[in-house]
Amino acid sequence: MIKKGFSISAPGKIILSGEHAVVYGYPALVSAVNKRLTVISQNSRFEINSEIPIGSGMGSSAACAVAKSAAKTYMKTGGLNLEKINNLAYKMEKRHHGNPSGADNTISTYGGYLWYRKESESVRLFSSLRIKRKLPEIYILDTGRPEESTKEMVDIVRNLCLKRPKLTEQTFKEIEEITRFFLKYLMGEENPSIRELFKTDQKLLESLGVVSSTTKKLVRQIENMGGAAKISGAGGWKKASGIVLVYHEDTQKLKDFTNDNNIDLMAVGIGEEGVKINGEN
Ligand code: PMV
Repeated sequence: MIKKGFSISAPGKIILSGEHAVVYGYPALVSAVNKRLTVISQNSRFEINSEIPIGSGMGSSAACAVAKSAAKTYMKTGGLNLEKINNLAYKMEKRHHGNPSGADNTISTYGGYLWYRKESESVRLFSSLRIKRKLPEIYILDTGRPEESTKEMVDIVRNLCLKRPKLTEQTFKEIEEITRFFLKYLMGEENPSIRELFKTDQKLLESLGVVSSTTKKLVRQIENMGGAAKISGAGGWKKASGIVLVYHEDTQKLKDFTNDNNIDLMAVGIGEEGVKINGEN
């Protein structure tokens, strides 16, 4: 079966907790967002449209790999085999990033909320969560596109692992604890403070050296006004650190703060659908 004119889209993602640690086999909790990348196929040509900021931790490259893999599969078979699409997208990500955890392409393929864990190169486990409780409203601030690539940020953490193995192992274990608290929150099993989880996770990520001093300053300002924020994704060390997830019990305070400081605040839908066929033409 050969399909020609169609459009397929795949979502970006946020990492609630577990970035960087997930590269070393610790779990991550990830969710698909309502910003998508679309591949339009017409007359044997592909066109790409994307609402996902590039290189800022929202999984734009993985969404591109997933949507392209899906387009290839759909052209050949007329259907979407998610497992095949995910494996193909993982291979593309490997070519791009070297040693990805595979979390980004998996969430972009399956959507929703995933508990993800890379046990080994060929055993990448995940579980789609039927969540019992929604998170409170989470906003996104874009601190800008980092100068470093994801691969460079992963290398920074790898060097730290080599230099300070005990310390990094301890940090990853503490990150895992936070990731598990997020899971228990979503499954309605425990009621941890989202503010505290964000705050602690951010501190741990800062100690891995993946947050720039300007982003740290912004996060401290948000904390001082009663909120919390954390980077989501690889981060960035020199200047910008990509997107930051922000939470405040009193949303108005957050809006006033960003207005006063001329910062864009994006509301983001999470738990969104994975790769899908938008239509045929
Ligand atoms: O910034 P992003 O969207 O490329 O996310 C990277 C997440 C890491 O955990 C840092 C790397 C990975 O492969 O999982």
